Amino acid sequence: MNPSCAECVQLQLNFQGKESMTIKLLLLSSLLLTSISSGCAGLTSAFIRNEWPSVDIPLNNEVFAVPKGYNAPHQVHITQGDYDGKAVIITWVTANEPGSNIVRYGLSEGKYDFTAKGTVQNYTFYNYKSGYIHQCLVDGLQYNTKYYYEIGSGETSRSFWFQTPPAIDPDSSHKFAIIGDLGQTYNSLSTLEHCMQTGAQTILFVGDLSYADRYDNHDIGVRWDSWGQFVERSAAYHPWLWSTGNHEIEYFPHLGEVTLFRNYLHRYPTPFSASKSSSPLWYAIRRASAHIIVLSSYSPFVKYTPQWKWLEQELKKVDREKTPWLIVLMHAPIYNSNQAHFLEAESMKVVFESWFCHYKVDVIFAGHVHAYERSYRISSIRSNVSSSPSSDKSAPVYITVGDGGNQEGLANRFRDPQPDYSAFREASYGHSTLEIKNRTHAFYHWNRNDDGKRVPTDEFVLHNQYWGDSHRRRKLERYSM
Ligand SMILES: *[C@@H]1O[C@H](CO)[C@@H](O)[C@H](O)[C@H]1NC(C)=O
Ligand SMILES: *[C@@H]1O[C@H](CO)[C@@H](O)[C@H](O)[C@H]1NC(C)=O
Ligand SMILES: *[C@@H]1O[C@H](CO)[C@@H](O)[C@H](O)[C@H]1NC(C)=O
Ligand SMILES: [Fe+2]
Repeated sequence: MNPSCAECVQLQLNFQGKESMTIKLLLLSSLLLTSISSGCAGLTSAFIRNEWPSVDIPLNNEVFAVPKGYNAPHQVHITQGDYDGKAVIITWVTANEPGSNIVRYGLSEGKYDFTAKGTVQNYTFYNYKSGYIHQCLVDGLQYNTKYYYEIGSGETSRSFWFQTPPAIDPDSSHKFAIIGDLGQTYNSLSTLEHCMQTGAQTILFVGDLSYADRYDNHDIGVRWDSWGQFVERSAAYHPWLWSTGNHEIEYFPHLGEVTLFRNYLHRYPTPFSASKSSSPLWYAIRRASAHIIVLSSYSPFVKYTPQWKWLEQELKKVDREKTPWLIVLMHAPIYNSNQAHFLEAESMKVVFESWFCHYKVDVIFAGHVHAYERSYRISSIRSNVSSSPSSDKSAPVYITVGDGGNQEGLANRFRDPQPDYSAFREASYGHSTLEIKNRTHAFYHWNRNDDGKRVPTDEFVLHNQYWGDSHRRRKLERYSM
């Protein structure tokens, strides 16, 4: 899985080729490969692009425009609604009155043979009053089918579509995109647009959605609304699987707001009860050939807490014969060699790392650090906590994609020297894709935002941790005869 030296050198040459008026290239001598004996050491990319300013797009920009007309549905987004992918939860907001909770849907555009009825709620946050937030479960769907749906009523009704995933099967292919720490700046818009160009069917979101908590008073709610409108272009058509970050906590005693995750929980439902979770903040789903576990970095997780007990049970349910791919999402990265948030997730590492290795998790995606980094397969379970991790074939690959492009800017100070566990790191904005081909192979890419273009920058073939080893491969050979 480690890139060969030739590939590393190729990568560096590519960076040089990208030099242009707007790109300042810095070749640091410290980047030269430090080891040529076995494969190559980790790479710190020398690419530095001119950032657009890390400021939020003004509210009057068209990216936040709410459709015209009385009570028009807006902030439309969908997520998986059950354990196995035969349901979606559709969420939308109406401004003027509660209106209809009905979703009309069917197999062809404009022909809605079925209906589902949802619920509506509203809430206040300090002196902000939300619109009417509708949530509707549409279930009993067929696999691998395109559905068209319509919400709202009369002239201001709006229609969208979504595609259900293939049935749960070890060889079902599926393309995921992974985004973290998105916010609502011009960089965020670039990330979102590039992600939409990849043809990813499902978006795995690793926390820190709107960054509305950086505003004051009434504007906090307003920026949750604008973000909902901002992501609608993707999230109304492709399910986003939500996880929370620190910017969702919103503990504001000075505003009298002390219920954690309040704005988030009113707006972004998850199918948590389908995996017997007691909280929307941690849950699991199965989709195509993947079992995806979502953890909450900011909820109790030490031994005996609800999240710990739930994860213990959920890991036992993972059946790699049915879903070969085991993916974990969390916000704070367990391995990260950036100065920003360094060692912040040590406590989660201590509690969960041995399980991740025991159950041979394929890959763990996190955000939080506003830069990109990928690790080799390493663990600290055979050493004591304070010692450095060592190579471990059972360990997951750790990938940090907190580089969605929010108003806090990039985390561009990596620790020096690059630790042995770090395979590739670069401080620029982007997103990842994971294209699962079958039970043994998935193609991974990290796509940098490069002045309006999507540039695949870091890539490797992810070999399945369960079906990839020689024992399973023999079994597979028997299976395919
Ligand atoms: C919710 O909407 C109703 C009906 O418009 C309104 O009377 C109520 O004050 C709203 N509640 C909150 C918490 O804003
Ligand atoms: C971890 O620390 C304990 C206590 O100091 C020691 O007994 C043990 O040998 C250490 N284990 C490793 C792998 O270093
Ligand atoms: C799985 O996909 C990889 C990559 O496309 C391909 O090389 C391999 O032959 C496939 N395996 C099977 C059993 O089809
Ligand atoms: Fe964060």
